[in-house]
Amino acid sequence: MLLKDLEHNQHEQAMKFLSACEYEEAAPWRVFLLVAMLMRVTVVANNTFRFPQNFSFSAATSSYQVEGGWNEDGKGVNIWDSETHKHPELISDFSNGDVAADSYHKYTEDIKLLKDLGVQFYRFSISWPRILPNGHVTLVNQAGIHYYNNIINGLLAYGIQPMVTMYHWDLPQALQNLGGWTNIYMVECFEDYARLLYKLFGDRVRWWITINEPLIISQGYAGEKGRAPNINAPGTGDYLTIKTMVLAHARAYRVYLREFKDTQKGKVGIALNINWYEAYANNSEDISAAERTIQYELGLYANPIFSTTGDYPPDLKERIAQNSKAEGFRRSRLPSFTQQEISYIRGTWDFFGLNHYTTVWALAALREPVDLRMKDFGAERIQDPSCPRGSSKWLMTVPWGFRKILRWIKQKYNNPPVFVTECGYSDDGRLQDEERVKYYVEYLREMLKAMYYDGCNVIGFTAWTLLDSFEWRGGYRERFGLFYVNFSDPTRPRIAKESARVYKEIVRTWQVPTRYPQYSYDTQECSPTIPL
Ligand code: NOJ
Repeated sequence: MLLKDLEHNQHEQAMKFLSACEYEEAAPWRVFLLVAMLMRVTVVANNTFRFPQNFSFSAATSSYQVEGGWNEDGKGVNIWDSETHKHPELISDFSNGDVAADSYHKYTEDIKLLKDLGVQFYRFSISWPRILPNGHVTLVNQAGIHYYNNIINGLLAYGIQPMVTMYHWDLPQALQNLGGWTNIYMVECFEDYARLLYKLFGDRVRWWITINEPLIISQGYAGEKGRAPNINAPGTGDYLTIKTMVLAHARAYRVYLREFKDTQKGKVGIALNINWYEAYANNSEDISAAERTIQYELGLYANPIFSTTGDYPPDLKERIAQNSKAEGFRRSRLPSFTQQEISYIRGTWDFFGLNHYTTVWALAALREPVDLRMKDFGAERIQDPSCPRGSSKWLMTVPWGFRKILRWIKQKYNNPPVFVTECGYSDDGRLQDEERVKYYVEYLREMLKAMYYDGCNVIGFTAWTLLDSFEWRGGYRERFGLFYVNFSDPTRPRIAKESARVYKEIVRTWQVPTRYPQYSYDTQECSPTIPL
């Protein structure tokens, strides 16, 4: 019998016992037995669960964050080049991605690091303006094609599968000049770009991600400081981008299905980011507030694509329409989909790409100032500043939240195959990065519980990130890499951190090392208390 079956059986027995107890009075010996059984299950789960044979491990980067070579060999300008050059003060250390980790020149070294880690996948993104300097297919940059061909071929030579993100936030400035994602015309541009990528690289790339984190991209149009392209239109501009991005994703998916899938046999998905939102108090108001926040941050993008009904989450759609009306708008600030669009978008997925990092608490009582968006999702979001966290102040280590969000996705979208496309921890770049090691150990344990106990269909895990890199408005102060990069050295040397060694061991042994103790980050210990 396989170990995993054994573990399932134990769990099942315990569960049967539990339900028997609902009918009979639980005698003390039964309770004792139950506790023993459950403890055994937990110990097995936490220490020896193995990843299924067909599971995949990956590490990720994105073009603007690592490549550098910002104006080399015909690359066009993107919105992050513009933002960081015009407004360095928006970046915590006044830095930019002009050189970054210099992967434009050091990609062969990066591929060797991946080989050394033993991962099956490398998730990287293509810089749209490196291939199409002005965003349109009228001008194609051969040097860009050459660069990505080299990466893809280099990976395949080592037996590593490329997972390619088409868009990871570095929009050609020429398209932003037309309004960027607020302009529905972007759907056409994205279709052309996606088709070109399939044609150029699809003979070798089997895994495609259309858009990375549309939620964060939309916030660049909601006045969130330091998020390119820095357009200040919360509750309207950002909502226009939602419709455009969801449609653009669907268009890219359908182009593949129609024109390429038969011959190239690949998969197309989208990478959506979401925290777990835990109700601040165990009452119906806060429970609903937490649910609304997940629907707002994830459901607006995921529901049209992954739900069986399609379209935006109905309650939220209605709530935004009502708010808009009360504010004097003639139509909802959230542009609606036509029936035809709803059917066109629904089902445009081969897998669910999930970026998950942390847990936040939600409560229904809003504190001033309340903007249009907060009224729409109707929740206050808080974290406990004293909880374990790294150098990104939003990133608190809460492993159990990972299991909960995986379960939520399973329940809402009928258990789609989930490829965790990002998960990771930031610090100051130290080589002995125990906190990152703990983070991975604990998050992976929770993920395994979600798989074995809850039946979540998780097919892969991606560490964010392979290398220390440009962390957007966090500059180089927030380091997520498995490998340290010295950004003051022009040769940008890479050095393995302790977490790289542990990740490598996990990939090699197909399990989380048992020598690490259980860390306890439970709700009690780590839930915020605020004066209401
Ligand atoms: C998600 C983004 O996709 C990635 O670009 C970023 O560096 C990480 N989160 C960490 O913030």
